[in-house]
Amino acid sequence: MSQRLTVQHIRDMKTRGERIAMVTAYDATFARHIDAAGAEMLLVGDSLGMVVQGRSSTLGVTMDHMVYHTQAVVRGSQRALVVADMPFMSYQPSVELALRNGGRLLAHGGAGAVKLEGGERVVAAVRALVDAGIPVVGHLGLTPQSVHTLSGFRVQGRGDKQGARIMEDALLLEDAGAFAIVLETIPLELGKAISARLTIPTIGIGAGPHCDGQVLVCYDMLGLYDQIAPKFVKRYDNLAEHVRAATKAYIDEVRSGTFPADEHSFR
Ligand code: KIV
Repeated sequence: MSQRLTVQHIRDMKTRGERIAMVTAYDATFARHIDAAGAEMLLVGDSLGMVVQGRSSTLGVTMDHMVYHTQAVVRGSQRALVVADMPFMSYQPSVELALRNGGRLLAHGGAGAVKLEGGERVVAAVRALVDAGIPVVGHLGLTPQSVHTLSGFRVQGRGDKQGARIMEDALLLEDAGAFAIVLETIPLELGKAISARLTIPTIGIGAGPHCDGQVLVCYDMLGLYDQIAPKFVKRYDNLAEHVRAATKAYIDEVRSGTFPADEHSFR
């Protein structure tokens, strides 16, 4: 029987006033370490398009990529609930496509839930997924798959009208059966108001300290990704420096002939 945390556990954490930690992971080794550290949810984010594949946006990520990386994260972890992103155009064209692809992420990827971006326009898909037994995390505010209509990676929900729209979308997603909602890059007062109004947990990224949980991209959190540095990112380490220093030490030893030493050789 699986020892993984359940959707109900995540919901109950909000009821108990416990903060939820979500971190992205894209491969088995990172998943193993982040899981062992105790994160409640591992997000196989389509941010992999940028931090793993080197693209400038998430738009080129496919369902095959998501299934492949989700399988690796599931293999590497034991406890965390694994949430897989539904990539661009895997759910927008029709509810039927959303069902087929959401089902694939659970059945073949091994995820415990899926995440998709948007409010009112994805409510029918969210309802159908939940009815089919596929738990859903919503995603509002800065939704990177809409980078072109949002005119770049910028703060969303500033001003009463825009803020009210995001609040309304959050209520619609909750009503459709989403069990949590990621709020990305919105003013902290809006994050606070939505978190207070919803019964399901909000997971913030650039949405202030009042959300029920937080999510960070592991490459940002660990200081590995230095192409973009959003204001909301806190780097808990600078692994890029460690990687470069360790690799340079190896190169120096190869060049000087001190690696491999006797203890690394066979007789
Ligand atoms: O793709 C991703 O990593 C995400 C997070 C930034 C929330 O959606």
